[in-house]
Amino acid sequence: MEIKKIAVIGAGLMGSGIAQVAAQSGHEVNLMDVEQRFVDRGIGIIEKNLGRMVEKGKILTADADAIRGRIKTFLSPAETAAGVDVVIEAVIEKMDLKKQVWQDLDAAAKPATIFATNTSGLSITEIAAATSRPEKFVGMHFFNPVPVMKLVEVIRGMETADETVAIIKDLSAKLGKTAIEVKEAPGFVVNRILVPMINEAIFVLQEGLATAEEIDQGCKLGLNHPIGPLALADLVGLDTTLLVQEHFYEEFGDPKYRPAPLLKQMVRAGRLGRKSGKGFYDYT
Ligand code: CAA
Ligand code: NAD
Repeated sequence: MEIKKIAVIGAGLMGSGIAQVAAQSGHEVNLMDVEQRFVDRGIGIIEKNLGRMVEKGKILTADADAIRGRIKTFLSPAETAAGVDVVIEAVIEKMDLKKQVWQDLDAAAKPATIFATNTSGLSITEIAAATSRPEKFVGMHFFNPVPVMKLVEVIRGMETADETVAIIKDLSAKLGKTAIEVKEAPGFVVNRILVPMINEAIFVLQEGLATAEEIDQGCKLGLNHPIGPLALADLVGLDTTLLVQEHFYEEFGDPKYRPAPLLKQMVRAGRLGRKSGKGFYDYT
């Protein structure tokens, strides 16, 4: 199956990145969010990234214009999904919202369209069951920032067909990513390891063992990580980090996954990291 046209649902951190790499690899892209200001913010991120690539001499202005020209924006799921080959969903990490969004998309997309969710760790089987085509439904988990990070985890739900997995692995390669196939479990593979590490770093901060800068410096120099866990939480978004950690706690029923109280408090205060201007560090 040749994938020409892709719908991306949610124009936030991840959706804007996915739309960018899809357009960069020659696909027509329909990008959707619930309000014009969110669409504009996502397009703003893409234009800034393309501008930086032009400045660095990686692409020509004409290439940037062509990439931008392949992205159309929408506010309605029905128009966004009409006539596309693949839909990739990157809305907020909440099961009820994802199910609602997929029901609307299911009603609008042609029967052959493949459905992929970029969830960080929710059950693919449960989201797929909200649609009439669980065999065409799969997890396609990108990493942030999408234009830079090379990995995609491809996750099977209970009913996902082999052909669907093959199509999405092939698409991942066309987007310049390396796919690994992963069985369904909370957080899949990479977030199962990463998010509890970030949560532990927040406990360390909360206990006053070291400052945020020292914790991050420790992990950069002692573990060779490109950025420390607290700076990474700011990059991912503290809201998303908390939703993933809460999901582990609920699903595994194991107290070792309890979210750090400081993480909860920061989310309650609206300190969401880079996207709100303030998290463990100040970006204003
Ligand atoms: N969008 C696009 N490109 C970006 C970018 C962004 N947001 N941020 C940086 N870049 C590009 C830069 O343009 C630069 O490109 P070139 O090499 O082509 O010049 C390159 O990335 C390096 O950028 P910088 O020199 O400005 O900064 P850096 O060396 O500190 O790298 C980083 C930035 C790539 C983000 C690096 O800090 C890093 O790898 N951090 C860890 C990221 C990570 O672990 N991500 C996974 C998060 S977990 C997840 O995504 C899963 C989940 O479900 C929560
Ligand atoms: P975000 O908050 O930056 O963006 C989410 C976007 O979804 C917002 O623009 C919001 O307006 C939009 N949205 C909400 N309801 C919608 C609806 N009904 N229809 C269309 N759009 C809607 O979040 P994000 O970080 O981009 O995360 C999106 C998804 O990607 C989540 O499932 C998250 O777990 C996953 N993810 C996040 C990261 C990360 O590092 N942030 C990495 C991998 C996967």
